[in-house]
Amino acid sequence: MAERETWGTRIGFILAAVGSAVGLGNIWQFPFKTSTEGGAAFVFVYLVAALLIGLPAILGEFVVGRRANINAVEAFDRLKHPAWTVVGALGLLTGLWILSYYSVVGGWVTRYIVGSATGAYFAAPAEYFGRVSMGWEAIAFHGGFMAVTAGIVAFGIEDGIEKATKLMVPSIIVMLVGLAVYAFTLDGAGAAYEFYLSPDFGFIADNLGTIVPYAVSQAFFSLSLGMGAMITYASYLGDDDSLFADGSLIVVLNTAVGLLAGLVVIPLLFVQFGTVPDAAAGGGAGALFVSVAQAFADLGMAGRALGVVFFGVVLVAALSSAISLLEVVTSYVVDNYGYSRPATAFGFGGALFALGTLSAWNTAWLGWFDSLAYGVLLPLSVLLGVIFVGWVYGPEAVDEIQKGTSNGGSFATAWLWSVRTYVLAGVFVTLYLGVTDIYSAPPIPFL
Ligand code: TRP
Repeated sequence: MAERETWGTRIGFILAAVGSAVGLGNIWQFPFKTSTEGGAAFVFVYLVAALLIGLPAILGEFVVGRRANINAVEAFDRLKHPAWTVVGALGLLTGLWILSYYSVVGGWVTRYIVGSATGAYFAAPAEYFGRVSMGWEAIAFHGGFMAVTAGIVAFGIEDGIEKATKLMVPSIIVMLVGLAVYAFTLDGAGAAYEFYLSPDFGFIADNLGTIVPYAVSQAFFSLSLGMGAMITYASYLGDDDSLFADGSLIVVLNTAVGLLAGLVVIPLLFVQFGTVPDAAAGGGAGALFVSVAQAFADLGMAGRALGVVFFGVVLVAALSSAISLLEVVTSYVVDNYGYSRPATAFGFGGALFALGTLSAWNTAWLGWFDSLAYGVLLPLSVLLGVIFVGWVYGPEAVDEIQKGTSNGGSFATAWLWSVRTYVLAGVFVTLYLGVTDIYSAPPIPFL
């Protein structure tokens, strides 16, 4: 058997992982969940969750991936714990579920590139979003996005996208900083910073039951956890890399992009609406689109060009994430069941397109798919992974995480202690609250 490829450089791995992690979760979802879940209170809990739960959990996936040196499903077999293969399988399922509506939002982004070029949304951004986010047009653009994703995976032509990803992360940061500074100069943005950056701890205490599960699951989604992706990426890592150093950098960069997106979207919403609008007025899932659309509209002709560039870069971010979501499943099926790569990629792509038409037809469905991912699939998948790494694989995991570090002993022990205790408890509580939330108020559309 040929020796398995490894990442050429440490920075190559970090950029690839950040490229997968940075996507619609940071740019679209984080600002809008912040706006609906209590502003700074949500941001605060999210930061704590990303650092104290997300980081140990991503390290757990790195440990499994590098140790096993193979895809997420077979990894557990390779580690001699075949029963835990169910964790890998659940991860694939979660990824597919999420991709079905991720692609719908990718379609919106594509639609907005066209809309920026023609200035179609300039007159009435909120009304425009209402029109293009649901119905036949949304289905068509969702289909286009999914077809491109499947096409790239089918023909194994990620090369171009990988190169684009290297440019993407820096250009997203530059554009978000530029827009954040612009928003800062506008009248009416002031109140936004209070809302976004000054947490009310009383509010957190009173709403712990909803803020915690949303914030923790948001951290998982954004870090691409619980979907086998990070296991797969780390399977290409060499033993001389420090998992802790790489993981910390990935978490910090990914979190920074989300925070920056919030610094753009929330002030722009306040400038237009004087508050964060509800979904009907252009908030909720429309927050990113309606807020920056208005800013571009205000800039006139220059706004058209800026809009094309901005949504273009967001599209690259969305595509690179969607591709790695689909790639995890496709490579597993191709390697193990002998189907051809194009048939597999287009097969899954077609099925997910069909599933996603519900979300594209009505955003109530999109909300329902999202609730199930957040409330059940993500926390369950991460919980099982954490139990495995902490309690089943424990000592060997410690051995693995120490590789590539000079004095990893006490750190490794602290990490193992964390996944065995409070991380596990935190994810369990998240799952429990997510399930009870869905049970008490089923977000089932039209019922
Ligand atoms: N993290 C990505 C985002 O924030 C979405 C995502 C979730 C993802 N799981 C993934 C991407 C797995 C690639 C692989 O948008």
